Amino acid sequence: MILSIESSCDDSAIAITDIKTKRLLFHKKISQELEHSVYGGVVPELAARLHAEALPRILEECEPYFKDLKAVAVTSTPGLAVTLVEGVTMAKAIAVALDIPLIGVNHLVGHIYSLFIEKETQFPLTTLLVSGGHTQVMEVKSLEEIETVAKSMDDSFGESFDKVAKMMGLGYPGGPLIQELAKDGDRKKHNFTIPLSQSPLIAFSYSGLKNAVRLAIEKADSKADYRDIAASFEHIATAHLTQKLKKYFKNVKPESFAIVGGASANLYLRGKIEELLEPHGANLLLSELKYCSDNAAMIGRVGVEMYEKKIFTPLWELNSSPKSNL
Ligand code: KG4
Ligand code: ZN
Repeated sequence: MILSIESSCDDSAIAITDIKTKRLLFHKKISQELEHSVYGGVVPELAARLHAEALPRILEECEPYFKDLKAVAVTSTPGLAVTLVEGVTMAKAIAVALDIPLIGVNHLVGHIYSLFIEKETQFPLTTLLVSGGHTQVMEVKSLEEIETVAKSMDDSFGESFDKVAKMMGLGYPGGPLIQELAKDGDRKKHNFTIPLSQSPLIAFSYSGLKNAVRLAIEKADSKADYRDIAASFEHIATAHLTQKLKKYFKNVKPESFAIVGGASANLYLRGKIEELLEPHGANLLLSELKYCSDNAAMIGRVGVEMYEKKIFTPLWELNSSPKSNL
């Protein structure tokens, strides 16, 4: 079995995965949403302190599995420097105590493998990752052949939902709150400009849209106004993704397409991507809703692949690194 740890942002999670069957035997996550909600976003120092409390508490529950552990996998990049180190330090301690190898996992690869928890992998795959930290399209051929073909130049898709929710005083995380508010709003009420629509670049940008929404919020004076702003924002934020993907599909025909990451839970986005894929006859892969957001099960699933390939990192070489090479 492999024990895996995730602490890249505001979720403390540990999982146990069976190496042979890839079955998830244990998974527990303690989220910090409530604690960060009052600040309208994640406060890194607070997050680190909460991980230091939560991770040992979850680890205690894993004790019955200790004797069967063959490796420990941990998210080592990308993420918040001060929170990554909490998981990495714990993983090192476990590796020393049990004399087992250490596996450093890229969190973005983890999101891709969230599609395959308790399942075999299915590649090649064009993948859209939409989370709080990233918005990028990756061509995935295998564990070791992942190429990023488009990414955001500034804010991410999920982050823009968080910021709009913060400006409306709704709380954190903004994604589910904006989705709920947008449900009954008029998506055509505010004619926000689709970012980079005149640019031939296949890249994303959310900072301009965020500012346009800020101006609309400043003029709003009723709950109904907020609903329409949320609906129009969700519509344009999604149209930006589909417009760029449509352009990308002119050159690269998708066979299988996946949406992963916390914001892949967005139902409006799911619907629009389904519409986009229909004429291409490409199938859409999605993670189970509970594994869209950060979790340790996806890290364990990558851990299994890396264990089979004997991709281990010596204790003194495993560093936590805020920036990913993907
Ligand atoms: O993958 P994740 O849990 O953490 C990162 O790796 O960043 O993603 C969290 C992000 C947050 O920005 C959150 O607001 C967004 O995913 N999110 C959503 C939805 N649910 C979560 N964004 C839009 N619509 C949603 N339904
Ligand atoms: Zn994530």
